[in-house]
Amino acid sequence: MPQRRPSTRQKRSKPLPRKDTARRGGVAEPLEVEIEFLPGLEPFLKAELQRLPGSVRIFGGSEDALRLGYSGRPRDLHRLRTATAVFRRHTFAVPRPKALMGHQVFQELLAFLDEVRQEADFGSFRFDAAGRESSTFLRLGEELERATGMRFDPEEGELLMRLRPRGEEAWEMLARTTPRPLSARPWRVRNMSGGLNAAVAVAMLRMAGVRPTDRVLNAMCGSGTLLVERALMGEAERIVGVDIDPEALEMARENLAAAKRQGQVELRLEDATALADREGSYDVIVADVPWGDAIGEHAANAQLYRDFLEEAWRVGSKAVRLVVLTHELRLFEGILEASRWRLDREVQVFHGGHRPKMYLLRK
Ligand SMILES: C[S@@+](CC[C@H](N)C(=O)[O-])C[C@H]1O[C@@H](n2cnc3c(N)ncnc32)[C@H](O)[C@@H]1O
Repeated sequence: MPQRRPSTRQKRSKPLPRKDTARRGGVAEPLEVEIEFLPGLEPFLKAELQRLPGSVRIFGGSEDALRLGYSGRPRDLHRLRTATAVFRRHTFAVPRPKALMGHQVFQELLAFLDEVRQEADFGSFRFDAAGRESSTFLRLGEELERATGMRFDPEEGELLMRLRPRGEEAWEMLARTTPRPLSARPWRVRNMSGGLNAAVAVAMLRMAGVRPTDRVLNAMCGSGTLLVERALMGEAERIVGVDIDPEALEMARENLAAAKRQGQVELRLEDATALADREGSYDVIVADVPWGDAIGEHAANAQLYRDFLEEAWRVGSKAVRLVVLTHELRLFEGILEASRWRLDREVQVFHGGHRPKMYLLRK
């Protein structure tokens, strides 16, 4: 293992004073940002970007990331609910990572990290790069630890720095602006196995449309991801969650309490295929139905999907928007075909090795 070398660099443990956008010649320059999302959620993320207070210029991306310039407060970007994570970008004119330790470039790196550290408190940092276990990265980690006062924790570090080459003569750094991904919500105090990704939940709710006059039902609510996210979006006439598992309802209760939204949501221990509600009780129905990966559950799912679609038809208003998420695509689409529901829109999401679809259905 390489020895720690004494550093001659000046220690700078606190970030520099706040600056929202870089200024050059008195003109504010947009922040260079990369936003990561689950493939499939791009249209929802773009719609959210349009609602931000600052101006956004998208100049590239891939199936799971958008590159953009943002003229506004960096913290606005932390409000994005369909993003997985937000990164600040900086390109260093160096041929290899070792050169980041050259005096001038190292000062440039510290200035970049100071800006990122304005956005959140980071006690530690780590690298995500090819060769991150090499002696170069170990030394870079040690130098940064000394200069910033943050702990170098290669596995769990909070400030995640991604390094990747850009052409022959430059390396780009992406620094995540929050200690945890944005999709890991602070309200999630109870985790259900099979719990829904919060960014997907937001996309489902946006697909259904969000209006303050809506009466919303989350059938088969589990630990309450859709309920919490809907309650956080603002008022609704009514928000109801039902599940047949008391343990799942307890989790939903605790998650809602952590989000300070328990008073806004009614939880009921009930079978979603035989609800106590009258006809036409809901304007929005959302359901992340059981997927049933295990053999033997497919038959039960077929019955459940059929019965649920019938019950949703009964309790839905004339203009009800029903959004269902499943990865039993063939099974669900066959049942849908034979039902009275009309398919309005479908979106496939790539997530955790699965490729479920969200279906927006109308009468
Ligand atoms: C995929 S999980 C939902 C996960 C949830 N979206 C979350 O984030 O935690 C499916 C849920 O459906 C519930 N369920 C299955 N059959 C049901 C039925 N007939 N009526 C009500 N709930 C049912 C299960 O108890 C389970 O909590």
